[in-house]
This record gives sequence, C-alpha cells and structure tokens, in this order.
Amino acid sequence: MQSKIIHGDLSQLATPCLILGVFSERQLSEAAKTIDSASNGALTAVLEKGDLDGKTGSTLMLYGVNNVSAERLLLVNCGKHEEFDRSAYEKAMKAALARLDSARLDSALCALTALEPNGMDSYQCVRHTLLLAAQSAYRYTQTKKPATEAPAPLATLECWIEDASQTELAERGVAHGLAIAAGVALARDLGNLPGNICTPSYLADQAVAVGEQSDKLKVEVLDEDAMAEIGMGALLSVSHGSRQPAKLIVMHYRGGSDEDKPIVLVGKGLTFDAGGISIKPSEAMDEMKYDMCGGASVIGTLRALCALDLPINVIGVVPASENLPDGAANKPGDIVTSLSGQTIEILNTDAEGRLILCDALTYVERFEPALVVDMATLTGACIVGLGRHPSGLFSNDDGLADALTQAGEASADRVWRMPLWDDYQQQLDSNFADMANIGGRDGGAITAACFLSRYTKAYTWAHLDIAGTAWLTGKEKGATGRPVPLLSQFLLDRAGQGA
Ligand code: BES
Ligand code: MN
Ligand code: ZN
Repeated sequence: MQSKIIHGDLSQLATPCLILGVFSERQLSEAAKTIDSASNGALTAVLEKGDLDGKTGSTLMLYGVNNVSAERLLLVNCGKHEEFDRSAYEKAMKAALARLDSARLDSALCALTALEPNGMDSYQCVRHTLLLAAQSAYRYTQTKKPATEAPAPLATLECWIEDASQTELAERGVAHGLAIAAGVALARDLGNLPGNICTPSYLADQAVAVGEQSDKLKVEVLDEDAMAEIGMGALLSVSHGSRQPAKLIVMHYRGGSDEDKPIVLVGKGLTFDAGGISIKPSEAMDEMKYDMCGGASVIGTLRALCALDLPINVIGVVPASENLPDGAANKPGDIVTSLSGQTIEILNTDAEGRLILCDALTYVERFEPALVVDMATLTGACIVGLGRHPSGLFSNDDGLADALTQAGEASADRVWRMPLWDDYQQQLDSNFADMANIGGRDGGAITAACFLSRYTKAYTWAHLDIAGTAWLTGKEKGATGRPVPLLSQFLLDRAGQGA
C-alpha cells in the first residue's frame, strides 16, 4: 500500500476516484460542498434523487462530473453528523473500500480523512484509514492464484486533509499506519498458511528473514538440543509427538540504550494442534493451523516495530511446536518437569499451549524484563465467555492492564479484562505433581491464565487470550492479524509516540 497526504483545491486534484462523505439527510461535508460548487450543484442535484438515502455506508459512484479533475466521485453516506464517531467512520470507510474493490480501482483519493469523527484527530483518522485500506487490499496468494477476473487490489490511497497545519500530524499517521499494516499483513500470511508449510522451522525462517530487514533486530533460534540442555521439559514433551522439530525463536530489537530494560512479547506458535492423544473432534480441526497466531503476531509486531523505528528495547519470543498424536506423544497422566522446576501432570494433552508457554515464560526471566506480555490462542472457553470481539486480558498488574486496555481502545483492537483471583488456583491441584495442566470445565480461560501465572511471578506480566480474535471462521475464514495493532499501539505509547 502506498499513501501520502494531500491538501489543496479538491476540484483540481487528478485521481481515478475521489471519495467524499455525505451526512444524512443529504448534508454535504465541507469537501463535498467544494465539489458541489465547482460543478454547479451536480452533487445536490444527484442527492435529490434519493439514491444515497438510507443506511450509513451506502455508496454512489458518479462519472464525468463537470469542472472536476477526478475521473469519478464516490459518495458515501456517513450517517448523522452528530453521531459520527469511529465506528460510523469505520462503517463508511469499509463501504467505500468495498466499492473501490468492485470497481477494480487500484488508486483513489480519500477526503473522508478530513471529517474528524468524534474522538479522532487527523493522525488517528489517517492511520486507521490506512489500516482499513490495507486490510481490504490484503490477498492470500501463497497457495491460491487469484482468479484472472478478480479485481486488482487497491495499491494507492492518498488522504486529503483540509487544514494544512495538520500536515505533519497526518503524515505521521501515514507512516505509522503503513508500518502497522505491514506487521498485520505478515501475521495474516503466516496464520493463513497451512500446517504442512508453516511448520516451526518455517516460522523460525520467517523470523530470521524479518531480522535481515533491520540492523536493530537480531534473531536467534534455539533447537531441541539447546532446549533440552537448559531443561525445557514441558515444551519438549509437546513436540515429542511430532516429526517436526520444535524451535524457540528469540528476536532482539534494540532501539533503546543499554540500560533500558526490554519489553518482552511471547507468542504461542503451535503450528498445528490436533490435540495429541486427547485428540480433537474432526469438525473445523483445519482451523487449528491458526494455533500459531500468537507467535505470528509477535513476529508481525517486531516487523512493525522495525518500520516504526522506536527508541525502545523489545524482545519477541515464540515457542514453536506441533501437537499431534503419536507413540512418543504425551499421554494423559504423564508428568513432566518444566524449566522452572515445577512438575506438571498432563491430564489432557490438548491443553498444550500452556505447556509450551510456561517454559518460554520462565526462559524470558533472564532478560530482566520491564514487563512481559504473552498472547495465545489458548482456550475455546475464552470464546464462550467473551465471543469474538475482544481478546481476553489477564494481568498481575493493574497499571499494565490499564495501559493495554487503553491501547486496545486507541487501536480498535480491544481487550476485556478477566479475573486472575487466587480462588481459581485450587482447580489446578494434582495428587501427583505440583499442578495439573487443566482446571475442569468452569472458567477455562481463567484457569489457563492461572496456570501461566505460576511461571510469571518474577515480573510484571499480562496474558492475552486471542482464541476468539486471531482469525475469522465461516465464509470469511482467515487470519485477522490481531493483536498486532494493539501491541504496536502499546509500544508506540511506551515510546511516547502513541498520539
Ligand atoms: N488451541 C486450543 C484452543 C482453541 C480451541 C482456540 C478452539 C480456538 C478455538 C488449545 O490448545 C486447546 O485445545 N485448549 C483446550 C483446553 C482444554 C483441554 C482445557 C480447549 O480450549 O478446549
Ligand atoms: Mn490444544
Ligand atoms: Zn492449542
């Protein structure tokens, strides 16, 4: 995606398509008024026919409007002016992007970015617009060629602003929007790839490739021997049932000074989760290729971070493995010793995410982190509890929980906090080990987080359960790239560049 900020006389700007907002009822935005007067009332005349009335997000394409340099005008109904907030903006923008797609346009000029929805400045508006545009232009092409009649995706979206004094702010929105979009696209690509291509080794190679794009990023990959040597018994127990070797991917981004303690991001990179001996039912099992989306979002966020060039230190860690049934796989009742020394009775081999994460979470203690955020497609129970709109947030620190909640709001990639009370811990009691790896039916997302909390006592920590947000199911099946926008916002905030 390419973009730049444009201002100046809209009627004189050459573009295949100029996108203009119209509020209900038939109330022209300032930009649309400019075009209306340049064209001697062409817009007013068309609106009187009523075609654009009705819902927010209805669109109308106009051709050959007199005295206007744009080849087409795309009018978008933005709803009531007094109700114009981010969600209305998003609805209107998505409708405009869908219309550009069906018109097979690869370039357009957007004047909606001058509309300043309630609660958004030009930085936020431009940034969010470019994320939406990149989302709409995303095509998965690795294993499926686009049909020849498919429209070429949007390649350029210029953003118009009315007030030239806002140029610098808006240009920062372009830079940040494109940086975050690149991270989101990478996370989506990795998520969408099938398990037979996107193996732990493939994920590691992709992380290394990201590292080659920036001098500030060094990537190191631990193999199974290195993990065995330090005692990552929980992680390796999951990988034993697989022919693909596990990898521990460690990405060091150094943008700050030596004394700055790193922010550590840990992402579950389970490249296919069949459940192991506690095998899953076959319905929708294909979607368990998405069980590495936590890891993909760590890699995607590090990529965004390189483009953002932030002056902070960040370490991304991805424990990567498969979880398959096999003669060497974990069996219910098996007891393993984690890197922390705590023993775990594996009562269900399908609760494998916490097994690979707990060793990664102990491993990162050596970096003396300022804080640690892990993200994982950890539990179906999280989807039952929260649905598919927010990610579940758990934390041992109110300040960190609030910062992540705010970053989620600011980036439209929301989280909702869940309890991590001691009351739940007893559900993990085991007669034969320090803990069981499952806590029964009740509060499954919470007991999973409680399990992780036993490995994160040494630092400030938050856990994101992204089971309901990392991908869409059904007809729209595909990775979303979440929570890359949230994490990018969080890192921007930490670097003092978030607004
Ligand atoms: N990767 C799954 C969680 C999952 C399932 C995410 C469906 C999204 C959709 C995880 O490894 C798992 O299998 N969790 C079990 C835990 C249970 C055995 C305690 C689950 O949620 O059923
Ligand atoms: Mn599982
Ligand atoms: Zn899993």
